[in-house]
Amino acid sequence: MKAAVYYENGPPGVLKYEDVPDPTCAPNGIVIKVEAVSIEGGDTLNRQGGALMSKPHIVGYQAAGEVVQVGAEVRDFRVGDKAVTTGFNGSHAELRAVAARTAWKIPKGCDVKLAAVVPVPFGTAHDCLFEFGHLKAGETVLVQAGASGVGVAAIQLAKRAGARVLATASSDERLERLKPLGLDAGINYKTHNVPQEVMKLTDNKGVNLVVDSVGGSTLQGSILSLGYRGRVSMVGAAGREPMRVDVGPLMSGNRTLSGVFLGAEIATDRVHNMIQSLVNEVAEGKLKVLIDKTFPLSDAAGAHAYIESRKAVGRVLLIP
Ligand SMILES: NC(=O)c1ccc[n+]([C@@H]2O[C@H](COP(=O)([O-])OP(=O)(O)OC[C@H]3O[C@@H](n4cnc5c(N)ncnc54)[C@H](OP(=O)(O)O)[C@@H]3O)[C@@H](O)[C@H]2O)c1
Repeated sequence: MKAAVYYENGPPGVLKYEDVPDPTCAPNGIVIKVEAVSIEGGDTLNRQGGALMSKPHIVGYQAAGEVVQVGAEVRDFRVGDKAVTTGFNGSHAELRAVAARTAWKIPKGCDVKLAAVVPVPFGTAHDCLFEFGHLKAGETVLVQAGASGVGVAAIQLAKRAGARVLATASSDERLERLKPLGLDAGINYKTHNVPQEVMKLTDNKGVNLVVDSVGGSTLQGSILSLGYRGRVSMVGAAGREPMRVDVGPLMSGNRTLSGVFLGAEIATDRVHNMIQSLVNEVAEGKLKVLIDKTFPLSDAAGAHAYIESRKAVGRVLLIP
């Protein structure tokens, strides 16, 4: 098969398009013929500095397509089903093998490209808001990097749960594109100080919950944006900065900083079922996905470079 691979970490230009051996199907696994690769925020970070499982290494968490092989122990998939899959690597390829537990059926009639975008960002946003963020109707949420994959999901899920939703982004144009998803007020962090704007927007009360997938100095701003008993779901390092923050302001306001890692529980019944519901809701049009642009798999380098140019709102896909 063809795949986008690299032999060493580095900028997007390390990605090459090459022939590699086909993956094998485990007894508890499936193999899909990939129709759409969703480039996750973690894929660009892994390309830059993550571990290489093999040389060449195929990066990538998430891809969707048609099931072409089913392991002997697997009962819930058949050849010909459409499925969206996750794994720690291997998405940037024509064929992709995963454990069936980290694959979800795509309902008939649903565009595979839409479902390709769901499990990691929507599952992560759901856990940040509800399982670990304990969001309740009537509360105010700040979504850092609202135009990110996780951000687009968090804004919608928070809004429909009855929260007031604030979000940050690096430009007014990016914030504008989030309004149809349920954004109540946007903060351009290039031109405004985020905690100060949050205090203005909340009558100096601060927010109840922050979803922070950026980390570093942004995480400091998240802590400073919290109200009394406020919570931060800290879920990523998109800012590519060291995670050095002053946690002092947490104590005085009975505030909480929680780490969230979807991968730790993705194979549990709780998360598996939650993600299947989210895939179904996207298929039914109850949740929106934003697909900013598609690239051919052969131009994975161009797609990664485009994402790192900070122009994408929502997801960039690769099509084999
Ligand atoms: N812990 C978990 O379970 C889990 C699950 C999913 C994702 N994550 C992590 O969450 C983070 C976001 O993932 P994602 O898929 O939502 O990412 P994404 O769609 O690629 O978006 C990342 C966003 O971060 C913002 N950003 C701020 N500083 C940046 C920088 N220096 N370089 C690039 N972007 C920067 C950009 O928006 P602006 O330009 O508007 O600032 C960009 O849109 C990643 O670190 C990922 O690994 C963690």
